[in-house]
Amino acid sequence: MGSGDSLAGCRSATALTPQEAAGKHLYQLHCAHCHEDNDLSFKKMPPNLHHVFERATLPSGAPGSDAQVSRAVLEGKGMMPGFSGRFSGEQMADLLSYLHTGLR
Ligand code: HEC
Repeated sequence: MGSGDSLAGCRSATALTPQEAAGKHLYQLHCAHCHEDNDLSFKKMPPNLHHVFERATLPSGAPGSDAQVSRAVLEGKGMMPGFSGRFSGEQMADLLSYLHTGLR
C-alpha cells in the first residue's frame, strides 16, 4: 500500500514533504495576501519572503533564524499583526519548514 500525499487540497508541481505542504497551505491562507498581493495596499510593500532563510538577516536587519521569524509571526512587526494564539507549535513548525524551502 502506498503512502501518498494526504494533503490533496495543497497540490504542487514540486514535491514538498507533507510538513512543507501543510506549511504552504498556512502561508497561502495567512501570509500571501499581504506578502505577495499587498491586499491592504500598505504604502511600503510587505517584504518578499521568498528565500528569506538564504539571507543572513531578515528585512528588518534581525538575524534570520527560526526563533526570530517565529517571534515576528507571533508578536507581529510594524504593520503586520501578531498571530499569537492562532498557530499551534506544530503549525508554526510546518510554516517554518515551508519558508525554508524558499517558497516553492
Ligand atoms: C496584514 C498583512 C500581513 C500579514 C497577514 C502577514 N504579514 Fe508579515 N509583514 C507584513 C509587513 C507590513 C511587514 C514589514 C514589517 C516592518 O518591518 O515594518 C512584515 C514582515 C514580516 C517578516 C520580516 C520580519 C523582520 O524582522 O524583518 C516576516 C518573516 C514575516 N512578515 C512573515 C510573515 C508570515 C510567515 C506571515 C503569515 C503567518 C505573515 N508575515 C503575515 C505584513 C503582513
